[in-house]
Amino acid sequence: MSESLTQQSIVRQPLIQLIDVKKTYGSGSTEFLALKGIDLSIYAGEFVAIMGPSGSGKSTAMNILGCLDSPKYGQYLFKGAHVEDLTRDQHARLRRRFLGFVFQGFNLLARTTAQENVELPLLYRGDNAEKRQAAASKALASVGLAGWEHHTPAELSGGQQQRVAIARAIVTEPAVLLADEPTGNLDTQRSHEIMALLVALNRDHGITVLMVTHELDMAAYAHRIVTFVDGKIAKDEMNEHPTMPSSADLNMSDTNLTEVI
Ligand SMILES: Nc1ncnc2c1ncn2[C@@H]1O[C@H](COP(=O)(O)OP(=O)(O)OP(=O)(O)O)[C@@H](O)[C@H]1O
Ligand SMILES: [Mg+2]
Repeated sequence: MSESLTQQSIVRQPLIQLIDVKKTYGSGSTEFLALKGIDLSIYAGEFVAIMGPSGSGKSTAMNILGCLDSPKYGQYLFKGAHVEDLTRDQHARLRRRFLGFVFQGFNLLARTTAQENVELPLLYRGDNAEKRQAAASKALASVGLAGWEHHTPAELSGGQQQRVAIARAIVTEPAVLLADEPTGNLDTQRSHEIMALLVALNRDHGITVLMVTHELDMAAYAHRIVTFVDGKIAKDEMNEHPTMPSSADLNMSDTNLTEVI
């Protein structure tokens, strides 16, 4: 075997790779370059925090990574496959099968119970009622919300609503969890509890986590911190000593996920 082939088989392939990705908003004289050439490789099992000033392109990059938006230039590879070459249907399938999302504003359906919110991705996937119900109940239990299935978002605290959103994101057993400021609307204690949950999903279940945050305390849980400035990656550093969740925060998360995932 040639040396280059041997090397190739040893070198791990990134799960996600952005190569010189550029994104513009608007057109003509109002055209704005929000991403100015992003190169980023994420490996399976990583927990990456994305930081940077407001307007630096973090959400724009997350939306591209999550297949909610497409780049104008550059390449996006998922498991080595060119995402830009996928059809609309293939794009949707990639999103449903491999990616889970959590947003700052929870994005739950208002007059819909926690259980029904979590079942939604399974409904889109075509699972039958029995399968949906069982999977959603397990996912809710895994985020510490057993017994809260029939509450609507208005009857839940912010921290609980974000747990429902996380249950909805993991109910399809995604490879990657994309979280855009998941603790942005929560107080400090609730934020640490949500971080404990994300750490458990990453550490115990190998879900790759990509999380945007403005808070250094929250980014400190990640193993790698990528900093965006003005549409570019200004820093990409390993965090040798990530924060370990306290046992109290982990217990709050009640993450005995073994049965779930
Ligand atoms: N739909 C849009 N149309 C036009 N411009 C947009 C749109 N979305 C974002 N932008 C612009 O692109 C730039 C990057 O926005 P983005 O939302 O990615 O920033 P961000 O880093 O997530 O900021 P924040 O920390 O405030 O969430 C900003 O200048 C923003 O005004
Ligand atoms: Mg943003």
